[in-house]
Order: sequence, then C-alpha cells, then structure tokens
Amino acid sequence: MIRKARFSDIKEIQRLINRYAQDGALLPRSLSELYENIRDFFIYKEKRRMLGCCALHISWKDLAEIKSLAVRREARRRGIGNRLLRTALQEAKELGIKKVFALTNQEKFFKKNSFKKIKKEKLPHKIWGECIRCPKFPDCDEVAMIFLIDN
Ligand SMILES: CC(C)(COP(=O)(O)OP(=O)(O)OC[C@H]1O[C@@H](n2cnc3c(N)ncnc32)[C@H](O)[C@@H]1OP(=O)(O)O)[C@@H](O)C(=O)NCCC(=O)NCCS
Repeated sequence: MIRKARFSDIKEIQRLINRYAQDGALLPRSLSELYENIRDFFIYKEKRRMLGCCALHISWKDLAEIKSLAVRREARRRGIGNRLLRTALQEAKELGIKKVFALTNQEKFFKKNSFKKIKKEKLPHKIWGECIRCPKFPDCDEVAMIFLIDN
C-alpha cells in the first residue's frame, strides 16, 4: 500500500534514508528536514512494515525533484521503487508540473521508468544548494535524469 507519510512514519523514514546515506547512495536527512518536508513524502507499507519511501519536492514553477527514493535492501527488485516513483509522478501531473528530475547514480532504474539523461547545467542553479552538504562534493558521481509530463 502506498500512502502519504504521517508524523509517526518519520523516524522510520529517516532510518531507511540514513542507512543508504552511509554508503553514499543518498544524502542524509535530519529529523527537522523531514518534519518540514513531510508533505513531500510517500511511503510503501506491507504488513505494517515500511518498505520504501519517495519524496516529490517542488523546486521551481513547473519543475519538481524526486528525492530520498529508497527501498529496503531485502525488498528490492519487487517493483516497489517503480510504484513509489509512479505515484510521485502522478502527483506531479495533478499539480500541473511539467518536468520532474532526479540526481542519481541509479541511471538504469530511472531509464526503465522513461527518464532521460540531461546535462546537469540545464537545471536551475537553485537546486545545487544541497550539493554543498554532500560528502562527495565536488566529486559528484550522479547524473541528472528528467521526465517530461504530458499535461
Ligand atoms: C533505486 C531503488 C529505489 C530501486 O527500487 P526497487 O524497488 O529495487 O526497484 P524496482 O523493483 O521497482 O525496479 C524496477 C526496474 O528498475 C531496474 N532496476 C532497479 N534497480 C536496479 C539496479 N540496481 N540496477 C539495474 N537496474 C535496476 C530493473 O530493470 C527493474 O526491473 P526488473 O527487476 O524487472 O529488471 C533501490 O534500489 C534503492 O533503494 N536504492 C538505494 C537508494 C537509491 O540509490 N535511490 C535512488 C536515489 S535517486
């Protein structure tokens, strides 16, 4: 089941994201950041266990970003990431957003979901604010991928 996140989910979301952040797959998130952005988050639950999360963060007039997409290791390759991403894209469509991007090293996963690789420089400067907090900065290994919504 996929639904919007609630306050009671936040600590579990943080644990999931920060476990991946330890290997550099995601940026770590503080509790305050997660509480502030709770409305961005969807979670996937099965038998009362949260198996995945995904955030859709609006960054510009008609542009949003997929952030903190994570599926528990033991639940990967079962289509959960795919379903979370589709749900976030559906919300973007309902909001009238035209472009959704991700900064990622999971190029194959996003390609499979019809995202196309673009030059990072094509994205507005505003979105680079977070990069400074990344432990890998300035040696970034992520690519920018974009999905165009037909509204
Ligand atoms: C990326 C991630 C969210 C994918 O979640 P998932 O639930 O395993 O993905 P799905 O099962 O929905 O995969 C859909 C398709 O994407 C492709 N795919 C998924 N993970 C892949 C990988 N690691 N390598 C290559 N292809 C992959 C596959 O083609 C898969 O279809 P298939 O299993 O029929 O071949 C998950 O691997 C994860 O949490 N990774 C760590 C955090 C991360 O890097 N997040 C992305 C940051 S933007």
